[in-house]
Amino acid sequence: MKSQYIEELKSGQVVKENFILSRKILREKKDGGMYAMLELSDRTGSIEAVAWDNVVESLRSVSTGDVVFVAGTVNEYNNRLQIVVQSLRRTNDADIDPKDFLPETEEDTDKVFEEIVTYRKKVKDPHLISLLDVFFKDTRLITQFKVAPAAKRAHHAYLGGLMVHTRNVLDLTEHIAQVYTSANRDLLITAGILHDIGKVYEYQYIKSIDFSTEGRMLGHVVIGYELVARLIQGIPDFPDILRCKVLHMILSHHGEFEWGAPKLPVFVEALILHFADNLDSKVAMMTETLKKYKGHDREWSDFHPFLERELYVREDDDEQTKHDEVER
Ligand SMILES: [Fe+2]
Ligand SMILES: [Fe+2]
Repeated sequence: MKSQYIEELKSGQVVKENFILSRKILREKKDGGMYAMLELSDRTGSIEAVAWDNVVESLRSVSTGDVVFVAGTVNEYNNRLQIVVQSLRRTNDADIDPKDFLPETEEDTDKVFEEIVTYRKKVKDPHLISLLDVFFKDTRLITQFKVAPAAKRAHHAYLGGLMVHTRNVLDLTEHIAQVYTSANRDLLITAGILHDIGKVYEYQYIKSIDFSTEGRMLGHVVIGYELVARLIQGIPDFPDILRCKVLHMILSHHGEFEWGAPKLPVFVEALILHFADNLDSKVAMMTETLKKYKGHDREWSDFHPFLERELYVREDDDEQTKHDEVER
């Protein structure tokens, strides 16, 4: 285990520790020398780092994604902490503890999994029960489902994130179905559980969370479609229209062509699943951003690349709201 984690670093601190080199940009200085802008990360977060001429040479022998041993000092630059790197070398794989580098859900994963199983037990349609049974009995798939992240960066980008996101989507669709009572809950639960299952293979999560080769080439929508189509194929007498509906919900859950959906939702359950998925991912983006800026005394976040806006991150807002409520 490491002894220095990024979220605990303070200005002025001397650093001698392993980090993942998550970004490396080499630049030329005005006087002709070189310097490097880096991003270092571990399971607690990421930090920018800068390295001058003397370190640039050792940077040529390391790639992004490598674990590197960094010696340097933490300082504050533009209101943010950064590490000024004095030396850097690649760490051997044998000296790496993966738990140091991958963030993990704060929730109890066994409990989250049980919540998903509870939803599965509510399904009454015998064909969908068969489909979910095949899924839950695939121990290899379930083991990966329990640890997979839901994203590389965008939302729930931590171990167990896929399961937490899936449970949230199921909770949301359950509530929405109380308003739109004609919606088929069996379909919502089944497709809710399976909608992002392709993420199990879209990402690799050993030293860092990154796209797998399959993920880069196919993406989780297509991987999930193919996986669920294969599960259905092994179930005798699975109705054709039900097969189309489940698969359509996987293909359309991103809701818009520009968000990677090959099909737009064409029935109510597919539309509900899309909005639940969209809501949970966006709420997570906002709450994760708030968390990142906690204690930074900033009013606005940097531009959020997925939400395409700056977010209001000042912490005293909630206190003011509570105060206003008391006044009233
Ligand atoms: Fe998705
Ligand atoms: Fe999703």
